[in-house]
Amino acid sequence: MQVLENLNWRYATKSMNGTPVPQEKVDYILDAIRLSASSSGLQPYEILVITDQEVKEKIKPIAWNQSQITDASHVLVFAAWDNYTPERINGVFKYNNEQRNLPDSVTDDYRNMLLTSYTAKTAEENFTHAAKQAYIALGTALIAAAEQEVDSTPMEGFDPAALDEILDLKSKGLRSVVVLPLGYRNEEGDWLVNMKKVRTPKEKFVTVV
Ligand SMILES: Cc1cc2nc3c(=O)[nH]c(=O)nc-3n(C[C@H](O)[C@H](O)[C@H](O)COP(=O)(O)O)c2cc1C
Repeated sequence: MQVLENLNWRYATKSMNGTPVPQEKVDYILDAIRLSASSSGLQPYEILVITDQEVKEKIKPIAWNQSQITDASHVLVFAAWDNYTPERINGVFKYNNEQRNLPDSVTDDYRNMLLTSYTAKTAEENFTHAAKQAYIALGTALIAAAEQEVDSTPMEGFDPAALDEILDLKSKGLRSVVVLPLGYRNEEGDWLVNMKKVRTPKEKFVTVV
């Protein structure tokens, strides 16, 4: 029941009041993101936490001038791998096996199957797949933020190429996917704050077969 209450409380906040989110709440949300499921457990994305006001000011104009970018205390940028490479895939398996005290031979068949399938695809196809994993984490972040009573705005309304340039993501082999400002709702100035949450009725949305 708690999760449904959290989900009803949250909304894509249009105006934030500038109050900073305490670091422990940001860390909680980041931990929830880190614990998200991903295909083959590759976690093919990283999170950049933007707190520098100057950097936020640079991002705002390439994000449709959305005020949450500069009024949020923390702006999370979900940046996916630009490709699945053997180095990246092998690195994940090596680390996981070390952490579990397992010999690499335990996962060799599965790892080789992944290498064959990903290296046959284009970088663009692999980035698209990696970006989907980042969206799963975005969903987790929305729930975790709401549970912490932290407001947030999931955002695709920005120019990814321009954001990649500002954050120098290309040199890290990353591409921005989605952005999540964290802050507190502006109770007086946000036109959406008291609006009813509207969703497709269950009977049109769910089919039991
Ligand atoms: C991937 C994604 C991108 C979105 N991009 C924006 C955005 O750029 N700006 C914004 O104000 N809202 C954005 N939204 C918010 C949606 O419009 C909002 O989630 C939807 O209308 C449902 O409303 P609620 O989240 O307030 O319940 C985005 C949501 C998602 C999931």
